[in-house]
Amino acid sequence: MKILLTGGSGFIGSNFVRFVLRERPGYQVINLDALTYSGNPENLADIESDERYRFVHGDIRDIDRVAELIEEADAVVHMAAESHVDRSIMDARPFVESNALGTQTVIDALRRANPKLTKRLVHVSTDEVYGTLPLDKPEVKFTEDTPLQPNSPYAASKTASDLFVRAAFHTFGMDVCITRCSNNFGPYQFPEKVIPLFVTNLIEGKKVPLYGDGRNVRDWLHVEDHCEAVLAVLEKGSAGEVYNIGGNNERSNLELTHSILQAMNCGEEKIEYVKDRLGHDLRYAIDASKIERELGWRPTRSAWPGALEATVKWYVDNPQWWQRVRSGAYRTYYEKQYGNA
Ligand SMILES: NC(=O)c1ccc[n+]([C@@H]2O[C@H](COP(=O)([O-])OP(=O)(O)OC[C@H]3O[C@@H](n4cnc5c(N)ncnc54)[C@H](O)[C@@H]3O)[C@@H](O)[C@H]2O)c1
Repeated sequence: MKILLTGGSGFIGSNFVRFVLRERPGYQVINLDALTYSGNPENLADIESDERYRFVHGDIRDIDRVAELIEEADAVVHMAAESHVDRSIMDARPFVESNALGTQTVIDALRRANPKLTKRLVHVSTDEVYGTLPLDKPEVKFTEDTPLQPNSPYAASKTASDLFVRAAFHTFGMDVCITRCSNNFGPYQFPEKVIPLFVTNLIEGKKVPLYGDGRNVRDWLHVEDHCEAVLAVLEKGSAGEVYNIGGNNERSNLELTHSILQAMNCGEEKIEYVKDRLGHDLRYAIDASKIERELGWRPTRSAWPGALEATVKWYVDNPQWWQRVRSGAYRTYYEKQYGNA
């Protein structure tokens, strides 16, 4: 199997490359990535010389480039996206362009390069398309049939992309699967996201900015559990289906903060309560019983405190990685290697 992966230089994508090459030694991966601010080829520096891996610097909105790569691949796993809610609140345009238009371009390229529509597209989406759940009804979770009610510009752009993929199945009979996962954690996450941001702030002696009163709840999924689920959907999922992927691991942001403080031997005084995020969704919780029942997948690496402590330790042990990311030094590295985006 030769997989065309989009967005493979980001957090989940780079973990997915490493996971696939480890778990499926016979597979090959082509990584198409535009290297935006969160795409970092250093995430895959150890894989660069592996013959089963190839990096292509390009944009998913370039239909000729995408179609050319689809011709040589057997399937597409689509992860490239603008991914940070706060950035979408500041400026939604790049989200519309990469997430909505970019996904439609991938679909158009698949139709062009693969007229018999035999090649599968796995579209990696998010639980944020469902909107928010109440805090006082812990038994209620998102199922694949929960109505789509996105609340942030990021979530709206991901919902648009989901619906274009759904339409490609219903209109053209394209072989597609959609995955909707909860918040991922693990190594190589860009340090604007809460876990690496808090850990790296604490290492540098700074405070951690906690939104509002910290009661918002997220269902934390280890990135390798997520990669395993995406691979299962690619290999065994049914065309036209949506699969929720969750960690069975709901925590409030305050609980998360306390766990990080504890792992870092820091006290409460390190918390700085800041003005809440606009439109901040209260609670996300995934019912992942469909993927467990139909594909035999369940999370095995997401349980806390072990999985969180190992992630915190990764950032503590790899200061050169996040210091280069924070300083922007990695951009110099890839500009030297690949030229300006
Ligand atoms: N991180 C999470 O917790 C989470 C949760 C649910 C869903 N997701 C989804 O998973 C996917 C990956 O998320 P992530 O956290 O790894 O994000 P990330 O920001 O770390 O990586 C995104 C990657 O996409 C690339 N990219 C962006 N626009 C592109 C374009 N136009 N053409 C080519 N490449 C482009 C970037 O360079 C980067 O390498 C996204 O689709 C995101 O919506 C993430």
